[in-house]
Amino acid sequence: MNVDRYAVFGCPIAHSLSPRIHHAFAAQTGQQLSYSAQEVPAEQFTDAVTVFFQQGGKGLNCTVPLKELAWRFATTKTPRAAVSGAVNTLARQADGTILGDNTDGVGLLTDLTVNHGLTLTGLRVLIVGAGGAVRGILEPLLQQRPAQLVIANRTLEKAQALVEAFAHLGPIAACGFAALEGQHFDLIINATSASLQQVLPPLPSKLFTAEAVAYDLAYAHEPTPFLRWCREQGARACWDGLGMLVEQAAEAFYLWRGVQPETAPVIAQLHAAWERH
Ligand code: ATR
Repeated sequence: MNVDRYAVFGCPIAHSLSPRIHHAFAAQTGQQLSYSAQEVPAEQFTDAVTVFFQQGGKGLNCTVPLKELAWRFATTKTPRAAVSGAVNTLARQADGTILGDNTDGVGLLTDLTVNHGLTLTGLRVLIVGAGGAVRGILEPLLQQRPAQLVIANRTLEKAQALVEAFAHLGPIAACGFAALEGQHFDLIINATSASLQQVLPPLPSKLFTAEAVAYDLAYAHEPTPFLRWCREQGARACWDGLGMLVEQAAEAFYLWRGVQPETAPVIAQLHAAWERH
């Protein structure tokens, strides 16, 4: 039997959990589909994505370093993808055109507010990093009306460029790491790729308020260096990006299949599988 085909493209991709997550969603909702992971470097993206859709592929996730390229490839974009400049989900429409969406922001927000029960309104939020991952999360975070959102980045100009692009959506400011000295935050989000290199961004100590929480967009079997540091700094809770990964996948699944899967059992299943290792 021919089943609808989906895939994730990225580089590296070998350790992607996306096939497992989407197969779990399919089993849970009784959908027939296949979902594979394919290593695609940036220079091969256009050819690979064209072939995928020509051969009948229904939908694609794109991860590092392909999200900006996917944004350019999409024929049309959802408003949240248009604003973010990055696309993590492509969907073939009935007329053959390709719709681009960005489900990262809503994935993070659902994990923070629903899974972890955090209210963002009135909080001082620090985002560390100013790369592609940050573009997708700024609009949904600002919609929650934090008191202030500060973007700190090694390369100040990149943080400043994001602030210029998003300043109309809420109170947002840019700075370098040294300028964080003496400032305090209720939520600190690590959106750098430093965790993937097992490196800690050079943040000053005493950044946390008494009830502060920390979130790393990255996830790994062991807590990332950033989350270990936050724990030592007295953060009330330290969360990794596994929940965000499952939530962004659920949004993509909904876009493709029109069915909203339950995420909690899948998050629990992945955590349990890690603990067995
Ligand atoms: P992504 O799509 O994951 O955001 P990216 O666009 O390459 O990837 O952005 C990576 C981010 O991590 C940038 O903010 C980068 O800082 P620079 O803009 O100064 O390059 C940040 N980053 C990477 N390694 C880092 C490190 N060791 N310390 C601090 N920041 C780091």
